[in-house]
Amino acid sequence: MSNNPYGHFDDSTREYVITRPDTPLPWLNYLGQDDFFGPITNCGGGYTFYRDAKLRRLTRYRYNEIPYDNNGRYLYIKDGDTIWSPTWKPVRTPLDKYECRHGMGYTVITAEKDGVEVEMRFFIPNEETVELWQTTVRNKSGKKKDLKLFSFIEFCFYEAQNDATNYQRTYSIGEVEVEDGIVYHKTEYRERRDHYTIFGCTRPVDGFDTCRDAFVGIHNGLHDPKVVLAGQANNSIAHGWNPIGSQQLNLSLEAGQEEQFTFVLGYIVHGTENKFDAPFVMNKSKGKALMAKYANNADVDAAFTGVQTRWEDLLSNCQIKTPNDILNRMGNTWNQAQCMATFNLSRSASMFETGIGRGMGYRDSNQDLLGFVHLVPEKARQRVLDIAATQMSSGLCFHQYQPLTKKGNADIGGGFMDDHLWLILSTTAYIKETGDRSILDENIGYADQADDAKKGTLLDHLELSIRYCMENRGPHGLPLIGHADWNDCLNLNCFSSEPNESFQLAGHGADDKIAESLMIAGLFCYASTLFADLYEYLERPEDATRIRGSYDEMVAAVDAHGWDGDWFLRAYDAYGNPVGSHKNEEGKIYIESQGWCVLGGIGVEDGRARKALDSVHEHLYFEHGCVLQQPPYTEYHLELGEVSSYPPGYKENVGVFCHNNPWIHLSLMSLGEGDRALEYYLSVCPAAKEDIIDTYRGEPYVYSQMIAGKDAATPGEAKNAWLTGTAAWTFLTVSQGFCGVKPDYNGLRLDPCVPSDWPEFEVSRKYRGATYKITVKNPNGNNKGIQSLIVDGKAIEGDVIPAAPAGATVIVEASL
Ligand code: GLC
Ligand code: GLC
Repeated sequence: MSNNPYGHFDDSTREYVITRPDTPLPWLNYLGQDDFFGPITNCGGGYTFYRDAKLRRLTRYRYNEIPYDNNGRYLYIKDGDTIWSPTWKPVRTPLDKYECRHGMGYTVITAEKDGVEVEMRFFIPNEETVELWQTTVRNKSGKKKDLKLFSFIEFCFYEAQNDATNYQRTYSIGEVEVEDGIVYHKTEYRERRDHYTIFGCTRPVDGFDTCRDAFVGIHNGLHDPKVVLAGQANNSIAHGWNPIGSQQLNLSLEAGQEEQFTFVLGYIVHGTENKFDAPFVMNKSKGKALMAKYANNADVDAAFTGVQTRWEDLLSNCQIKTPNDILNRMGNTWNQAQCMATFNLSRSASMFETGIGRGMGYRDSNQDLLGFVHLVPEKARQRVLDIAATQMSSGLCFHQYQPLTKKGNADIGGGFMDDHLWLILSTTAYIKETGDRSILDENIGYADQADDAKKGTLLDHLELSIRYCMENRGPHGLPLIGHADWNDCLNLNCFSSEPNESFQLAGHGADDKIAESLMIAGLFCYASTLFADLYEYLERPEDATRIRGSYDEMVAAVDAHGWDGDWFLRAYDAYGNPVGSHKNEEGKIYIESQGWCVLGGIGVEDGRARKALDSVHEHLYFEHGCVLQQPPYTEYHLELGEVSSYPPGYKENVGVFCHNNPWIHLSLMSLGEGDRALEYYLSVCPAAKEDIIDTYRGEPYVYSQMIAGKDAATPGEAKNAWLTGTAAWTFLTVSQGFCGVKPDYNGLRLDPCVPSDWPEFEVSRKYRGATYKITVKNPNGNNKGIQSLIVDGKAIEGDVIPAAPAGATVIVEASL
């Protein structure tokens, strides 16, 4: 057990158990994995939305409130004069017992006060647009208890930005109906919406409220709502202002007695027909049907079991057993849960992302898919097509798109010159996982074409991406950087001295034809190799050779202009001066070009790759990971942009930007450095931070985007947990790096790279319907290199386990 005073892992149930509500930051989990999502903290905070946190938000949350984490799924218990909440917030009455179990797709919060125990199990049933709070109240006091319970949620008017800003309208539009204690939130339903929200309870109610001011009071807070203090609901009907959903339940429990019921928060798409039974009386049939579906506890239990079974099934696609418990715990459970969240939500809705700012990111979602494709390949397929369709016929990609409309976001536009290349990584990962090459023929067209004029298959998009990169190169033959590459803050064409403009979008005259990126060059080498291999698999050797020609051209440019002596340069700025060079005073060495040039195969034979990684070790690595560059920028550099805007040690200015660390881990492993790779992996791994949790502060079960770097005032402090590309890449580090199970076109390539003290490890992998039980032995303490491979008792040449028929179980024994 660790020294974490706030909680611990329960590996047997795949839960993180939080034992104190006052965690160093709110610790989040996600409900839902289809079209309906509910971020939920260990205090019940958060909100619920359908598909898109910006355009279909059902309940309100207040970001950056004081205290943090305000508003959520609340229940008040009035036990005599004592008022408390099982989620601790919003009342914050000290509890006799508190436990929050964040699990796969659910959260259970249990609390006890004065002999009353309340357990709330929050989850979203598979493929449903409903969130359930299954609630059990137990009287353990030894005497009779008369309790009054009040539920609470605050409705959001769907379009979250408008909802949070346009009060001159929103204070006048709120409308509800109540029938049998079920609140039907119907704001805007009379006009352009064909959907509404319901909030009800499966138990008969003793009152309700829908008007926030009536329930809370104008001058009270959520910690002391008037109705709860009074112990009596108002049966208020909201007319404008702020509609809420609240039910009053009076429970009379004998000693030892318990009651169970469920609060139901549902999103109902009614459709445009028969919306009303009478003027102002909505047709509630679908809402009632939903309530009926979960009326019995047994049905709620069954739905919960469904969620658990589905997660077990998904996770069984890849399970590992290595000598390192932290690696197993992350790899088998939480890292995959995080991959699910990033795939579903990109960078939209977390404790740090408000769901309003960004939708899906072009580069982000392509990368997220790499850690997800083994979970639900069919969804990955559609995602690849959706992303590709936001590329324009010139090759330029919309940097972001809204998940609800799937349309590119015109506010941010394109011009991030790495975007298009990531599509090659996601597409090939999908085909290697599934063998489904038909995806290449899907005619998705381009974002600037009318729908009925669609002409452009996915394969055309890949070709275009390569060509676009080759045609947009600068004076050194290296790719132009545009607004920025993966490092959103390396804005070499921006020259912004105006605080009111965006670093990413400012500037950009005709002079953006000079600044170049070595990171994109390395990524191009990696992507073009994948693409050439794909052409070989498609039996188009001439195309493969053509693409390899472009690869050679790019390598030659890097050889001639990209090596700084001990590491790869990062870029050339708009004056043609090097960035990330020993010639610079600050920012002499950057991480991204070391990772990508090595992964792109540059300098592997002549020792530069190894040298670059040794330089990473010397200049960038410390106990909390590898920082992004060194030394930090202490002044704002007009010619570099946002990267020099952060205080030293934070974010892109010498923070540990976790997302790029696994590129180094994989690079190290490509060179056989398994011992160092594990040390580095653990340096950013949240599950390895439990002993320093008050420094780290973030959730110990999911990666953070950033850990403050060695030059920061608070080294080791994490920020931006959950929605980060770190999830997908560390999953690759674990599954394809250490464990070496790499899906390929005709089978599973087995190419592990392990620490020398690993005597043995096992992987159970489902792949195209067959199950592979893989044991790798390492009797001689090696790092890499398969010495023997036995598949179902037969020795195999090489390192590829051939794809077996669906349904088969394949026993693989290998040694290093
Ligand atoms: C964030 C962005 C991602 C970017 C990274 C580095 O994670 O979502 O697109 O690559 O920051 O700037
Ligand atoms: C990334 C960076 C952040 C920057 C943003 C701009 O998320 O981490 O520093 O502000 O991109 O889009």
